[in-house]
Amino acid sequence: MSSVRAVAPAKINLSLRVRALRPDGYHEITTVFHAVSLADEVTVGEAVPGTGRVVTTTGERAGSVPLGDDNIAGRAAVALARHVGLADPDVTIDIAKSIPVAAGMAGGSADAAAALVALRRFWHLDVSDGDLSGIAARIGSDVPFSLMGGTARGTGRGEMLTPVLTSGELHWVIALIDAELSTPAVYAEWDRLLAAGAVTPAGDEADADAPLLAALRHGDPHGVAAHLVNDLQPAAVVLRPHLRGVLDAGVELGALAGMVSGSGPTCVFLVEGREAAIALAAEMSGTGLVRGVRHAVGPAPGARVVA
Ligand code: C5P
Repeated sequence: MSSVRAVAPAKINLSLRVRALRPDGYHEITTVFHAVSLADEVTVGEAVPGTGRVVTTTGERAGSVPLGDDNIAGRAAVALARHVGLADPDVTIDIAKSIPVAAGMAGGSADAAAALVALRRFWHLDVSDGDLSGIAARIGSDVPFSLMGGTARGTGRGEMLTPVLTSGELHWVIALIDAELSTPAVYAEWDRLLAAGAVTPAGDEADADAPLLAALRHGDPHGVAAHLVNDLQPAAVVLRPHLRGVLDAGVELGALAGMVSGSGPTCVFLVEGREAAIALAAEMSGTGLVRGVRHAVGPAPGARVVA
């Protein structure tokens, strides 16, 4: 086998509730992850012996992806190799980006998850899905969900997952923003807003997301729209104030609801179905407020090898 190709989905957090900062620098969260049809593709292959990891990128803002030791798909390769007792591997990793970079949609996590499943196949490793998820959690909080896909509740720093039952599809218009946001910077802004009394930490109620989960189970986009929540949105809007106008425009143009995706700055709009998505995407791109629009459908499968 000279190469193996895998795809992994972008995610939206349908609910993201933030508690206090933990001593390890992470925030305890409860979230409902939802994978969507926007996906990155990762191809792994033989490298010349002694060259180490050779990472290349193409596609959506590919120039913003770090290619050196920091590259998250490269770090995934090293973590998987170490797990099975191999030295740092010689391997090529080509990443074809469709998921926006540093945009709150777990694009890096998708690349890591796709690299893990591709390399497990490429190296013929006998590593279970459970072990792969453990490796994923050490690479980044969202990587286990990028492996799992579908819709799932996440607790801890987001890495502890339970699948959520859903019916039907949700249609999303994704508004790409001409800016990036770093996740740590957005969490740090949330800490500042908390200290200033401008936000409150999520409580301990286990059933806060019960209405959202019921709407997902019934395949009711109006119910889902009414219960979308992102505690990081105020922090993202403070750092990128023009997001307010984007969110308002989407709802004025007919979305059921709009919100910042994860730590942002991407804004996502839930609509009733495919036709509404196509219409809103056309209207949003005409506003001049966004860099581009995508139509995506969820839930989508997690990282998987493709022929
Ligand atoms: O886990 P990951 O490496 O993706 O997280 C990047 C950064 O985002 C962390 O170093 C931390 O600053 C912040 N973060 C957080 N709480 C989480 C997840 C991420 O504070 N639950």
